[in-house]
Amino acid sequence: MDSIHVRGGQPLNGRIPISGAKNSALKLMAAALLTDGELKLTRMPDLADTRFLTILLTHLGASVQAGPGVMKIHADTLARTEAPYDLVRKMRASFNVLGPILAREGQARVSLPGGCAIGARPVDLHLQALKDLGAEIDLTEGYVVASAKGGLKGARIHFPFVSVGATEHAMLAAVLAKGETVLENAAREPEIADLADCLNAMGAKVEGAGRSTIHITGVERLSGTTHAVVPDRIETGTFALAAAAAGGKVLLEEAIPEHNESLWKLMRAAGVQVTSVEGGIEVSRNGHPVLAVDAETRPYPGFPTDLQAQFMALMTRAEGTSVIRETIFENRFMHAPELSRMGANITVRGNEAIVRGVKTLRGAPVMATDLRASVSLVIAGLAAEGETVIGRVYHLDRGFERLEDKLKACGADIDRRQE
Ligand code: UD1
Repeated sequence: MDSIHVRGGQPLNGRIPISGAKNSALKLMAAALLTDGELKLTRMPDLADTRFLTILLTHLGASVQAGPGVMKIHADTLARTEAPYDLVRKMRASFNVLGPILAREGQARVSLPGGCAIGARPVDLHLQALKDLGAEIDLTEGYVVASAKGGLKGARIHFPFVSVGATEHAMLAAVLAKGETVLENAAREPEIADLADCLNAMGAKVEGAGRSTIHITGVERLSGTTHAVVPDRIETGTFALAAAAAGGKVLLEEAIPEHNESLWKLMRAAGVQVTSVEGGIEVSRNGHPVLAVDAETRPYPGFPTDLQAQFMALMTRAEGTSVIRETIFENRFMHAPELSRMGANITVRGNEAIVRGVKTLRGAPVMATDLRASVSLVIAGLAAEGETVIGRVYHLDRGFERLEDKLKACGADIDRRQE
């Protein structure tokens, strides 16, 4: 199993190219199942998660060709309407194939998902949305069996709370439903707007994505297109926080400043310089101490739960005490005990972590517990004295493309070993 070794104390200086967003790429890949045309995705990240989903799409009968930064998916016909447990359990986002298969074939059988161990993460909102669109849904032996004999029908779908996955799933199904669908209390993440842009380029009629109410007018068929995946705001934020923790100055190439406003606000309050420049965002901290700032995770445009662990890593060495509140997932502080092994002073009480800044972190052997938690340990390692060895890095490989290479190019002392 691979581990990552980081010897801290080197500032980061240089340029970091930002990849396409994992969370968008996965839904765009599912969208390819809606058409018999070819979907060509550019700025496509190559990640363990996109590879998992490739296996599932191939199983369903799509032909998938991947090259550097590009993926072509052609689901001329679907050979199967079933996504088995083995192919879905490793990654929750694969559950999103249910809607497209159902919309196209009138039936689908998809295993209930697994995914990161960051909470219960049910799929009730996804299933309710499909039921609202007229699907009959049965749960048997760990599978969702869905059918819509006369096809899906447009509906008003009101989400009781904001869910990224359920909003996207409803969009993926409603684009081929008969009539008009209105999604109320929809998620507003940039990945939702990205999915809508791609679906519209395929011939769908989606209006209002990025706002709380989305209108979709169903069309009879969609065609292939070429679409560039939106730059990854979570990767952007992660490298910004890494530079803030390690010190130095980095240019995050192609990053879209507006997609991380909530983070920039916190980082500026912490004394870090964040500037929009031609071609991306520049983040620097030269000599200034980091100040403690409180943070609370919220649906977009609030501060993202996917950056909470990385932000905590920065706060471990801040001047003062920071309170970090997690409101999206109930079990997302698993990095706290690992950071504490490196000398951080963190007390977790329910959904709050109280982080008292310490002068020094010291390298230690630590364990990655989920995708974003694992990268918070890399950030802490960059800012620590001595060597940090991070185990179970397969979590990290699910969502970060060439992480060590990108950090190394900016002067980090980091490498990966097979042990
Ligand atoms: C997506 C992202 C993930 C991010 C999360 C929140 C992908 C592949 N993953 O996950 O990285 O952390 O958004 O920004 O895009 N919930 C229910 N029932 C449902 C669906 C969700 O109770 O049917 C709950 C979840 O348990 C969670 C909350 O709603 O507490 C928000 O989850 P959701 O926005 O759906 O997250 P995902 O789409 O799974």
